[in-house]
Amino acid sequence: MPTTPLAIIGGTGLDQFPDIEIAARSTVETPYGAIAAPLIHARLNGHELIFLARHGENHHLPPHRINYRANLWALHAAGVRHIIAVTAVGGITPAMVPGVIALPDQIIDYTVDRAHTFFDGPPNSVEHIDFTWPYDAKLRHSLLHAAESLGLAVQPKATYGATQGPRLETAAEIRRMERDGCDIVGMTGMPEAALARELAIAYAGCSLVVNWAAGKTEAVITMDDIRQQLDSGMAKVRRLLTTAVGLV
Ligand code: HPA
Repeated sequence: MPTTPLAIIGGTGLDQFPDIEIAARSTVETPYGAIAAPLIHARLNGHELIFLARHGENHHLPPHRINYRANLWALHAAGVRHIIAVTAVGGITPAMVPGVIALPDQIIDYTVDRAHTFFDGPPNSVEHIDFTWPYDAKLRHSLLHAAESLGLAVQPKATYGATQGPRLETAAEIRRMERDGCDIVGMTGMPEAALARELAIAYAGCSLVVNWAAGKTEAVITMDDIRQQLDSGMAKVRRLLTTAVGLV
């Protein structure tokens, strides 16, 4: 298999990427099991990349059932050195209005019970990666420059709180997360970011805010409202990615 240095992991609302020209698909088994969907080897805006649908092509995997280790391992084995990870999130702090794209610079991990490391004892060595800055600064700047060149307003920083799901949070959980310093909340940011770092893959997030987090408005959070934000917002995300791939 030829190696490709850039991958896009598509999340909710981006299980398929209509803008890419598909060259090949490869199904991969890894020492950690099967990946979520075939790796799609493709070109976007003249640049080679691999696309992977995090939840599967038909969105059948909930966040806590995703085999993050297999996904990351397969991308690494395919030669990937940079990942742009697209996620849909809830907005906690006032700037994180539904429709906004945020480029997170920090994470707080509230997930439980997920296979979250490759350094899990023998036969692998014991390693403690530096994770002070979980997202790659250069890759974040590429996304920021792409947004600027398109005149697309993005939030250049955000702390991503990763929750276990699949249920949404309680209002009190969101209040606690806000006190902790979280700006946005999603279910797939971890362990993906940490696994990428363990494999020395540069990783950046591109998070579309699709609803106000629990308790931030009087309204009940409905999948219909989320779907509406996904439709319009992911069109913006796709434009951003189409430009960003030329700047990585
Ligand atoms: N909470 C957690 N994950 C999410 C949300 C949310 O409000 N919206 C989209 N993904």
